[in-house]
Amino acid sequence: MHSIAVLPGDGIGEEVVEQALRVLEAVAATTGTKYTLERYPYGAEHYLKSGETLPDSALRAMRDHSAILLGAIGDPRVETGLLEREIIAGIRFGLDLYVNLRPIKLYAEHLCPLKGVLPAAVDMLVIRENTEGAYVGVGGLMKKGTPAEVAVCNMIWTRSGTERVIRYAFEAARKRSKKHRLTLVDKANAIRPQDLWTRTFAEVGEEFPDIEKDHAYIDAACMWMLKNPDWFDTIVTTNLFGDILTDLGAMMQGGMGAAASGNIHPGKVSMFEPIHGSAPKYKGKNKASPVATILATQMMLEHLGEHEAAGLVEGAVATALRSKKVPSLNAGALPTDEVGTIIISEIKALASAA
Ligand code: IPM
Ligand code: MN
Repeated sequence: MHSIAVLPGDGIGEEVVEQALRVLEAVAATTGTKYTLERYPYGAEHYLKSGETLPDSALRAMRDHSAILLGAIGDPRVETGLLEREIIAGIRFGLDLYVNLRPIKLYAEHLCPLKGVLPAAVDMLVIRENTEGAYVGVGGLMKKGTPAEVAVCNMIWTRSGTERVIRYAFEAARKRSKKHRLTLVDKANAIRPQDLWTRTFAEVGEEFPDIEKDHAYIDAACMWMLKNPDWFDTIVTTNLFGDILTDLGAMMQGGMGAAASGNIHPGKVSMFEPIHGSAPKYKGKNKASPVATILATQMMLEHLGEHEAAGLVEGAVATALRSKKVPSLNAGALPTDEVGTIIISEIKALASAA
């Protein structure tokens, strides 16, 4: 029995999570997967009522779940970034979810905004370091608001933090069926302390003679991702570069409505979420694509060892997109709940054909 913590959060979070839970219910009924849900209220409404973002007690309670499914966090009524830092980053850091898995996969040619890019060319896995780098919050402002103001933001990498994510990435590259290539993406030419990544990658890489090692600076990686996406298989990179690169990757897949992620600590409770934000302008309008959250649910099922259920969800999404029953991943393409209904009927069709 899997115990799943659900945090719908803000903006479109509630409605996309609702569809993901319908899909989960349908696939679980088909495969006999057993789970319980526990909802957590954290987000803007809860904060505005109580002054609380993510209390320690919630973080402790989450440790006892099998997995966490999160919708989206962020609200224009609240100070910029406060909820995102304290809830999303709060869970990532608080539960030491040091791997951020971000698959970039194009399910149908017409979804890619670039001419002539075929699905076979866009199938990669970005592994973003998730607990260090520019996100550690070490820094601040001095003499704020004066002409002499100083802003400091430190990017911090530890040998152990770098090593564990790089080792995870080599192992992930080995498990993938494609090219067995791992590309390190950094900016070690301009940011010399990133030499720590260069050396760690080379050292850990000796344990993986079967994996082809590759390297690209972040600026060049952005260029190559558009020009020759098929060069990439598995990518490992820092927290900030991974954040940026995967928005670019999301567009290659058809938009922010497509891109899912898993925040992982192997062997411990992990958190799954779409990579998009709360899109307040679409809140309650039944317009946002729930596909990213449905694919995050698929990643969660995979992580929980429910391979059959995960396979059905991915198959259903792929069929719905290829057949153009779900014609696009953009907001407004189809009502949010209708996308859920289509994917559920594809799950049933796949299961009965099997
Ligand atoms: C993401 C988001 C977050 C990040 C924000 C909301 C803090 O952009 O998950 O990619 O920067 O990691
Ligand atoms: Mn992001």
